[in-house]
Parts: sequence; C-alpha cells; structure tokens
Amino acid sequence: MPALVLLGAQWGDEGKGKATDLLGGSVDYVVRYQGGNNAGHTVVVGDQKYALHLLPSGILSPGCTPVIGNGVVVDPSVLFSELNGLNERGVDTSKLLISGNAHIITPYNVTVDKVTERFLGKRKIGTTGRGIGPTYADKINRVGIRVQDLYDESILTQKVEAALDVKNQMLTKLYNRRAIAVEQVVEELLGYAERLAPYVADTVLVLNQALDEDKVVLFEGGQGTLLDIDHGTYPFVTSSNPTAGGACTGAGVGPTKISRVIGILKAYTTRVGAGPFPTELFDEDGEALRRIGGERGVTTGRDRRCGWFDAVIARYATRVNGLTDFFLTKLDVLTGWEQIPVCVAYEIDGRRVEELPYSQTDFHHAKPVYEMLPGWSEDISKAKSFADLPKNAQAYVKALEEMSGAPISAIGVGPGRDETIEINSFL
Ligand code: IMP
Repeated sequence: MPALVLLGAQWGDEGKGKATDLLGGSVDYVVRYQGGNNAGHTVVVGDQKYALHLLPSGILSPGCTPVIGNGVVVDPSVLFSELNGLNERGVDTSKLLISGNAHIITPYNVTVDKVTERFLGKRKIGTTGRGIGPTYADKINRVGIRVQDLYDESILTQKVEAALDVKNQMLTKLYNRRAIAVEQVVEELLGYAERLAPYVADTVLVLNQALDEDKVVLFEGGQGTLLDIDHGTYPFVTSSNPTAGGACTGAGVGPTKISRVIGILKAYTTRVGAGPFPTELFDEDGEALRRIGGERGVTTGRDRRCGWFDAVIARYATRVNGLTDFFLTKLDVLTGWEQIPVCVAYEIDGRRVEELPYSQTDFHHAKPVYEMLPGWSEDISKAKSFADLPKNAQAYVKALEEMSGAPISAIGVGPGRDETIEINSFL
C-alpha cells in the first residue's frame, strides 16, 4: 500500500516536477488532488523541457496512469491544449483519468477572477487569473459545474442558470460589464463533452482498488504549504488545500492509506503574487537568486520574489503535513556565496519567536533572525552522492535538516533528470 504525497513545503515552485518525474518510473499512478492550471511544473526529460500546468507530471512516464482527482478544478480548453501539445511531441496521453466529480472552470469563473482582482486594486491577491478562486467559491456555494454535468444537457443548463443568476447581476451592476448568456456557456461546455468522455472515471474507486493491489500511488500537490487556504498566509493563498490532508479529500483516500509525505523544499525561498515573506531580498543577492535560479513563473511569466532559506517555515511545513522526508532542490543555485544567511527565528515587535505565528498581524511584522553558514564555490552539479558535495555544502544541508525537523532524503543539484542525489529511497 505505498501511497506517497509529494507537496511544496514553501510557497510553491519548489521544483516538484523534477521530484515527481524522478519517481515516475516506479510509480503506477500519479494523482493531482487540488488546484488547477494555476500550477506550473517544469520537467526536463533528456533534452526536452515540458511545462505542465494542469496535467500530473506522471503523464511523461509511459508506465504510469495520470489521474486528475475530484479536488481539482479543470479548465477543459487548457486541458485539451496541454494534451495536444504533448501529443504533437509524441507523448501518449490515452491513460489519463479524470474524476467525474472534479469541478469545471467555466469562462465566467475566469472573468470573475479578473474583474474582482481589478476591483480590489492595491489590495489584490495577485492571483494567476485562471478562475481558480471563483470556481472553488462556486463549489462551496453549491452552484459549481462538475465534469459529470456535461453529460446531461438539461441539468447542465439549470446549473449554469443558477450560477449566472447572481454573477450577471454582479457583473452588470457592480463591475459595469456585459451579462454572460447561459446558452453560450452551455454550448461551449457541451462542446468539450465528447473529447473528455474517454477520460472520465470513478477515480476514487480506481485509486482505492490500486492501493488494495499494492500499486504505488503518488499524490502530487500543486502550489505549496504556505498557499494552503487553511494553513497558509491567508488571504494571500490559493483556494484549495495543497497540504497533505488535501490528498485524502481531493482524491478520496483515507488517511490510513498514506505511508509517506515528502516536502519539496528549495534551498532558498521564493514567492509569486502578494503577501508576507519575511526573508524577501530587495538587493543584488535577491536579483542573483532570481537570475541564477531562473525564478520566473512557469504559469504567469511573472518574476518570483526571492529570499534566503526560512527554517521557521520549513518546521511549520513538517508539522502541518506530517512530513516524513524532504527533497531539497536547487542547492546548486547557492554555489558561489561566501556566506549564506539562513533564517532560524523571527523577531516580532522585539520578541524572538521560534515558530510561525498564527496571527496575520504578527507574521506581517516578522523580521528574520539570521545565522550565517559558510558557502562553497565548487561546481556541485556533477555530484552523485552526498559525499561528493563540498564540506560546506554538506554542512548547509545538515543544518537545514536539523532546523526543519525531517530527514533530507534527496538533493537537487541541477535541473536535469539525473542531477539529483538520492540519500534515502522514497519507495
Ligand atoms: P490563484 O491560485 O490563481 O487563486 O492565486 C492565489 C495565489 O497563489 C497568488 O499569490 C498566486 O501567485 C499563487 N499561486 C497559485 N499557483 C501557484 C503556483 O503554482 N506557484 C506559486 N504560486 C502560486
């Protein structure tokens, strides 16, 4: 019953694609359990680079069945263009399974995302503009459209009517936009039904049966722990649960089935969009991290905010996810600094605080308390084992492990598939 959860331990973009892909060959199912095409994985296979937004990265491993679980929100037009792009490059996507209970990102959800962000002005969240929040809002308000609704035109029409009732009032009266016609939306959605049909399945049953048969199932979180709607830096978060518990609700498996929870942890920190970020850098070091680390969003093309490693956040991620392991990524990006600051605690209004404060006000006031660790200048991208790393790089990894509260079982030393040091096997 090996069920593994792989998730971002910081604010997303930790390099999950590489980790998932590394495991892909030995994994039978890769499951996305939340989020939608707001995510962005870059996966490098040989000399080919793939940017995936909605599809699980396991789609690139021939033996693996990729699954989009009930907790995901699906924009069919994005799904099809992602499938087309892969098919054109010779990738077989026919094994994909999509939960009939997954919610659809409708065109009006995308419109509402954009107009509300514009309306918020300087208070905006900095969303990806993909309709994620409004689709989850419809789900919770019980006016969402699910994949299965595409197969009953009369039900679909009633549901779209219900969803647009209030939204059209809002769009026309508050935002000064044109109303959206029910028929037009229904027609567009019905247009997706036939192509989607072969993929639609009872994924809860499929996955539980697979676990009963001792198949290896990997649950792949989008975004990251600090972007979780419950456990992140609310309100500057996404609208779903990337944390480990989300794998249970978003895929329909019980917590007793999960055997391992792996947190992907970047050797420094990045964040996209608005919200607090205690170790953010506004100087040439931040610029250098961005340049060397290629810190530009896969989904939005926005520059990522960059800063030093924050051990308070890593400890928090260990706790809220019950992490059993870390996969430390992008260690090579830190090569060349004489000394590397690591945030070990915060100073909040004159007090030293060791753990992430639950109060939003406190977190906004948090100033990093740094410990300086000695850097290294040797190229580490060819390192195959922990012993191959320079002594100071080894000490950096060990210090992070100690502060973060879970073993670092793999280290990324470059973007390529084989540029990874495995310390403990994940399977
Ligand atoms: P939304 O998910 O589009 O609603 O955006 C909410 C917040 O989550 C914004 O700050 C986004 O920049 C951030 N976000 C969403 N997806 C990702 C991701 O995959 N990586 C990093 N940040 C993300």
